[in-house]
Amino acid sequence: MNREMIAILDFGSQYSQLIARRVREQNVYSEIFRADISAKKLQRLPLKGLIFSGGPASVYSKHAIDCDRKIFELGVPILGICYGMQLGCKILGGQVISAEKREYGRTILSIVDKSDLLAHLPDSISVWASHGDQVSELGDDFDILATTETCPYAAVRHKSKGFFGVQFHPEVAHTPQGQAILENFLYNICRCSGDWKMSDFVDRATDAVREKVGDAMVICGLSGGVDSSVTASLVHKAIGDQLVCIFVDNGLLRNNEREDVVATFGDHFHIDLRVVDWSRQFLKGLAGVTDPQRKRMVIGAEFIEAFKSEASKIPNAKFLAQGTLYPDVIESGSKDGNPAANIKLHHNVGALPKQLGFELIEPLRDLFKDEVRTVGEYLGLPEAIVWRHPFPGPGLAVRIVGEVTLQRLEILRAADEILIDEIKSAGLYRKISQALAVLLPVSTVGVMGDERSYENVIAVRAVETPDFMTADFSQIPYEVLGVISNRIINEVRGVNRVVYDISSKPPATIEWE
Ligand code: XMP
Repeated sequence: MNREMIAILDFGSQYSQLIARRVREQNVYSEIFRADISAKKLQRLPLKGLIFSGGPASVYSKHAIDCDRKIFELGVPILGICYGMQLGCKILGGQVISAEKREYGRTILSIVDKSDLLAHLPDSISVWASHGDQVSELGDDFDILATTETCPYAAVRHKSKGFFGVQFHPEVAHTPQGQAILENFLYNICRCSGDWKMSDFVDRATDAVREKVGDAMVICGLSGGVDSSVTASLVHKAIGDQLVCIFVDNGLLRNNEREDVVATFGDHFHIDLRVVDWSRQFLKGLAGVTDPQRKRMVIGAEFIEAFKSEASKIPNAKFLAQGTLYPDVIESGSKDGNPAANIKLHHNVGALPKQLGFELIEPLRDLFKDEVRTVGEYLGLPEAIVWRHPFPGPGLAVRIVGEVTLQRLEILRAADEILIDEIKSAGLYRKISQALAVLLPVSTVGVMGDERSYENVIAVRAVETPDFMTADFSQIPYEVLGVISNRIINEVRGVNRVVYDISSKPPATIEWE
């Protein structure tokens, strides 16, 4: 049990996990709770403070989410953000109205009281707001800490209850001083000691896995990517030999991928790793298929068959460990039980637990990608895995535009290896978020020696992105592009032209299919 904790009450905000993450960044442990948790339950926790999240409702609407009023008697400081502020102010005697002017986006906050929450900040800072309602009257029990042009009570403090409210969002990146505000709350106001580390997350997560699993066996589909690798090592740390990893060789992998996974997880970490070579079946299923979604469906179906055939050999297997991260939870809409509109059939292993009757274990479900990398580093995973660019589940099949054949796979593998090799040599691998080679279904004319050639085109794509939802093409220096192109054309039989993809996402996607 941690010695101290911040409880985040979730009033339906899209940012609750982000608030939790910001608190972790300040080395303080936090947990998210339903907004209607009772004060009695909270009292049993080693609470140093509470944060009320924002929320979509109006405090006066019938959809408004209330909280237990006794929370204000617990004697711990509370920070209310947006809806959380409006609710706290209303409960403590203020009034909330629908504002004449909605405040949305960047706005300037003028600070009038720097004694605690807004200590050490300049007189005015840029903050990000998103609200239609605002507090209109506060009574005598509040002090005003800051205002904006349209919002007279943009940051407030109750005189005796330890309640603070901000009408803007300190947790988002668009509030550049947001971390300083949270730091003031956590350290100056809640008096946290800041002794939480990512290793504490690992301890907690491994305890939880052990408790859930008992003496049953757990299966983990390992792809060698960051998410599944960190999941596998974390679960292995928790339950050792009760974990069996299954690696499906679908014949659509990059050069040496299978060997690297076996060397790292089987030989080095001594994880029970079963490799299923299903490449023949995948290629057979893909014969004649050119439509990208159809490719994904064929691959998804074969993956389940391959996985099933191996999983059925593991007696007492009750759980499936999956590397779901928080952004996946939002993207797939599963947080609220809404199926999201699928632009691509990305989550092609999503059907596994249902099909096989497994219960899910998702130890990374609350983390963001960079936090998963930190956990990976802590668990001792090699840099090549922790910082590996994402690689799609359907592998090279969605990077061969048109039909996937053995010969075309060979061409693409060779080109891909050169591309990644040169990007690493140029010191650009960590700067670029994802780099890939694509084999196009066109032949173009060239000259090789005195001969006319009529061969394949490779498109090189490299993007930089914070979250893979939007992306810019990476401005790789021409010299590096020149070396990549020369090497691919000279060393890869069947390629006589290399082009560089300069599209951004949107409207283009990162993969070509
Ligand atoms: P797009 O191409 O949609 O890609 O811009 C965004 C990120 O998702 C990866 N991607 C996939 N991952 N199965 C996966 O597991 C898929 O079918 C798939 N399609 C795209 C892509 O590599 C990028 O990182």
